[in-house]
Order: sequence, then structure tokens, then C-alpha cells
Amino acid sequence: MIADRKDDHVRHAVSQRRQHSGASDFDSVTFVHHALAGIDSQDVSLAVEFAGKSWETPLFVNAMTGGSPRTGEINRLLAIAARETGVPIASGSMSAYFRDPEVAGTYRVLRQENPHGFVMANVNATATVDQVHRAIDLLEADALQIHLNAVQEVVMPEGDRSFGSWPRQIEQIVAHSPVPVIVKEVGFGLSRQTVTWLREAGVAVADVGGRGGTNFARIENDRRSTADFGFLDSWGQSTPNCLLDCAGVAGIDIAASGGIRSPIDMARALALGAKATGVAGAFLEIVVGRDDAALVDTIRTWLGQLRQLLTVLGARSPADLAGCDLLLTDDVATFCGLRGIDVDSYAHRSSWWSESKSSRRSHP
Ligand SMILES: Cc1cc2nc3c(=O)[nH]c(=O)nc-3n(C[C@H](O)[C@H](O)[C@H](O)COP(=O)(O)O)c2cc1C
Repeated sequence: MIADRKDDHVRHAVSQRRQHSGASDFDSVTFVHHALAGIDSQDVSLAVEFAGKSWETPLFVNAMTGGSPRTGEINRLLAIAARETGVPIASGSMSAYFRDPEVAGTYRVLRQENPHGFVMANVNATATVDQVHRAIDLLEADALQIHLNAVQEVVMPEGDRSFGSWPRQIEQIVAHSPVPVIVKEVGFGLSRQTVTWLREAGVAVADVGGRGGTNFARIENDRRSTADFGFLDSWGQSTPNCLLDCAGVAGIDIAASGGIRSPIDMARALALGAKATGVAGAFLEIVVGRDDAALVDTIRTWLGQLRQLLTVLGARSPADLAGCDLLLTDDVATFCGLRGIDVDSYAHRSSWWSESKSSRRSHP
């Protein structure tokens, strides 16, 4: 049954993308252009420190598939693209493997095709410590993702209805995991309070997984015989809003996923404090519609264009984007006002002007 559900998710996710209007809160986050702030492209490095490791790029393929023959083949194509481009990759939920070890190959392919890459295992918050070890061993995983998907579960007729044990179980997993733990939402977002709790629990990375991209309330509603959960279509916080909400939480790495459509969205997310950005639906659509070669081309193009954006913005690294001036407007500005976030301070962050004045003074 899990395998059928996974095939359904792929089908619905791809068709949902084709119907989506394309509007996004990312469009309410704009860089202030400073025409003399640019640097030389060769001085830009896309490398980041993330989940205790150095990554060559601030981009990863987020959790999607595995558990059925079709999604095993998708994992194979995604893994080849990850290997060819050097981007880290996450497995889809490994619950199907815990129920039926015969589907191991549909997950293991992520490591077989990508022996030296950064691979993340993925479990739900009710996984036992034994299951966590089995998942990590199968993939020789470098990190573990735990997904939080209570909204999706309540819309699924066969979904879980018990979420009270999740905090205790996350603490258990963190205490016994041999690799860094990443906790992610699947498209409804993590609040400042949730991220603060995760930091206290020792979680290494919070992936805010906000609203704006793949929408599992809609996917599950479309799978119901009575599509009566439409009122949850816009549930949750968008990815930019989540990043703004958790900007002040220190001591935990923040990743951004949910609705990242392009290199400019990656740059916006990094400028809002994310250390890395994850993409699921946009890459799935490419692999399902064409092949791994098309995805390799897309990832290479995105990374090349991200480098050019950093060049124009005067950012030598993705981390430097956190010093760029940003204009926050429309629904994002409204959210900031209601959550006590100072929109003005984002518009006045850059120091390139004062730095270039002082360097001119010291080198006349
Ligand atoms: C077909 C499909 C299956 C997914 N399965 C999982 C999963 O098993 N575990 C998980 O943590 N997230 C899963 N996700 C959620 C993604 O990892 C991501 O959080 C979400 O899709 C938002 O990102 P996007 O807008 O780039 O798609 C899935 C997404 C898609 C499209």
C-alpha cells in the first residue's frame, strides 16, 4: 500500500506543478541593486559548511522517492544527476523498507549510483532507534532526515492521528543517531518556536520546508474519494516567511526548501539566512518528463547562474548574501509586521559602500 501511495504522490505532484500559477512569496523578496558592488566571478566560491561537512554547493536534491519499482527508477536517475553534479541527495521516506525489506534496492540505488556523494536517509518521527540504524546502514548515509508531516497525515484517510510522542521520539533519535540529524517539514513550514525546540533537542539542521511548492494537503485531498479538505490548501507559512521567522535562532543550521523554482529563489533563501537550499518537485518534474541528462544540465545551469548572481551582488560566498540589502514587500512584509520582524533592517544591511570608501582612503 505504501508503494502505491508513493506512485500516486509522484503522479499528483507532477500534475500539480503543471497547474500551479507560479506565484510565490519569494517574489516579495527583492535585492537592492548596487551598480558598483560587483566582484570578479572567479572570486566566488559556492562552498558551504553544512550538517558538519563541507559541501561544494548550497543545493541538495530533497527527499522524494523509493519503495516501489517506479520510484526506485526515479531514485536511480536522481542519484546519477547528484553524482554528476556533486550535489547532496536525500532518500524518500524509508517506511516501506521497514515494512518490506525486499524493496531495499529501490533506496540502496542512491548509494550504488553515487558511491562518494553525500546521501541522507529519511524517516518519520515515529521511527525506532533500530529502524534509524537500519536506514543509515542501508544507504551508508552521511546524515539523517526526520520529516514532520502532521497536516499531510490528517488529510490521508489511512494517515496517522497520533503526534503527541513526536518530540520525545526526536530526542531519542538524536541521542542515538551516529550521523547529524536534520528535521524537515514537507511544505507547511517550521516556526521560530519549533526551530528553537529542535535546537534544544540537539538537532543539527532545521529545514524549514515551507509552503509555496509541492502541497501535500492538496495532493492528499485529491486522493480522497470526498475531496473535503480543500480548506487546508493554504495552510502553513511560506518558505521566505519561515526563514525570516527563525532568523534570530542561533546554534542550529537552517536549510530552506519548499517552492524553490530557480537560482534567484536560491539566492533569496540564502540571503534570508539559509545555509543550503533543497529542491524536490522542480527536479522530479524534469526526471519524470525527460531523463537524468536533462536534470544534470538544469543543475549545472542553476549553479552557474547562482554564481553570476553572487558576482553581481558582491558576495564571495553564499554566506555573504546575508549581508545584502533586501526589500520585503506584500504578504511577506505583512507577516513580518505581525511576527515582530524589522523589515527596515533588511533593506539596510550592506556595507560595501563604507568598505570601498575606507579601502580608497588607505590606497589613494
Ligand atoms: C513525490 C514527492 C514525494 C515526497 N516524499 C517525501 C518523503 O518521503 N519524505 C520527505 O521528507 N519529504 C518528501 N517529500 C517532500 C519534499 O522533500 C519537500 O519537502 C517538499 O516537496 C517541498 O519542496 P518542493 O516545493 O521543492 O517540492 C516529497 C515530495 C514529493 C514531490
